[in-house]
Amino acid sequence: MGQNAPHHKLELLPPPREKVETIEILRQTNRSTAALAELKGIAKTIPNQAMLINAIVLQEAKDSSEIENIITTQDELYKALTVKRASISAEIKEVVNYRKAIFSGFHLAKEQGFIRVNDIVSIQQELVDNTAGIRSTPGTVLKNDKTGEVVYTPPQDKAEILELLTNFINHYNRNDSELSPLINLAILHYQFESIHPFYDGNGRTGRILNILFLILNDLIDVPILYLSSYIIKNKPEYYRLLNKTNHEGEWENWIMFMLKAVENTSKHTIMKITTIKTLLDNTIIKVQKESPKIYRKELVELLFEQPYSKIDFVVSRLGVERKAASRYLKELEEIGVLESQKVGRETLYINKELIEITSVRLK
Ligand SMILES: Nc1ncnc2c1ncn2[C@@H]1O[C@H](COP(=O)(O)OP(=O)(O)OP(=O)(O)O)[C@@H](O)[C@H]1O
Ligand SMILES: [Mg+2]
Repeated sequence: MGQNAPHHKLELLPPPREKVETIEILRQTNRSTAALAELKGIAKTIPNQAMLINAIVLQEAKDSSEIENIITTQDELYKALTVKRASISAEIKEVVNYRKAIFSGFHLAKEQGFIRVNDIVSIQQELVDNTAGIRSTPGTVLKNDKTGEVVYTPPQDKAEILELLTNFINHYNRNDSELSPLINLAILHYQFESIHPFYDGNGRTGRILNILFLILNDLIDVPILYLSSYIIKNKPEYYRLLNKTNHEGEWENWIMFMLKAVENTSKHTIMKITTIKTLLDNTIIKVQKESPKIYRKELVELLFEQPYSKIDFVVSRLGVERKAASRYLKELEEIGVLESQKVGRETLYINKELIEITSVRLK
């Protein structure tokens, strides 16, 4: 089928059951559900949840923005978050916004137990930092990056977009669906991207809606499973399958792609968490042994919650004087747990090993 073939009119959800519950899909759903359940269990064993969430969310903000060619480094990001500066680059700002949008979405989902169309609008607004909102002027089309050829035309009429969005959010919030939540995740992500309700930021907003959906369905307790890295790695396939579903109204390959993304990413995240936990345990032992006088569990945990630390953080966490806080950090540098770096007038103390672990990409 040629690229210019007319696409199916976007149908309301849900799709016919037989199209989204093939034997192959059901088998893969079991594998993906098991991997995700294992991740949920392992995440629970981490004593300090903030530590886990911070590191993983920042990495996700970076990866997800990278799909949109917003390239930043962990180092720049952490510095932007740790040191107040008058001006930060537009790229850093976008990634910082993405991170904020995940957290506000997470708190909203937790508080309300559901998401409204207006919440989606706020999330997108926070991401792109403008108030254009839902598309009301026609002209948005999806093009092939390389050839410039139009591959898909989303609905153009505002009333139609709103109708599709209402249907989308009703399906998103249903708790009586007979389909597995992971199959629904795949269906919903396709539908959201195909409605393409905004002028920009549809991909990133859709990826945030994915994690919130997993949380609302109790598949994970904290926002630590992200498909962005998998999507970057398999971007041509991701685009090809969205397209194929638009044009052929055929769901199986798309759903399989998303299910495999969940399985693969869950396993990768389990490895990452396990490595973080081992590093935390080893660091505790090292400080206890080599600097017994300054050892405090909260001090070590702080270095994992804030891998770029500074005196102020230690002062407020441990309730000690600046002088003592400074001495602790220097001593931790001496025994090789931290590395210091001057940024402007401030000295940051970096948990380098943790940074290395959290920035490992999917293989
Ligand atoms: N044929 C298609 N059908 C439906 N959705 C598509 C198709 N091709 C691409 N998309 C979606 O459009 C998104 C890009 O839209 P947009 O530029 O508004 O989002 P973004 O967040 O700015 O970009 P990105 O997702 O690249 O980070 C892609 O992430 C993808 O999910
Ligand atoms: Mg864009």
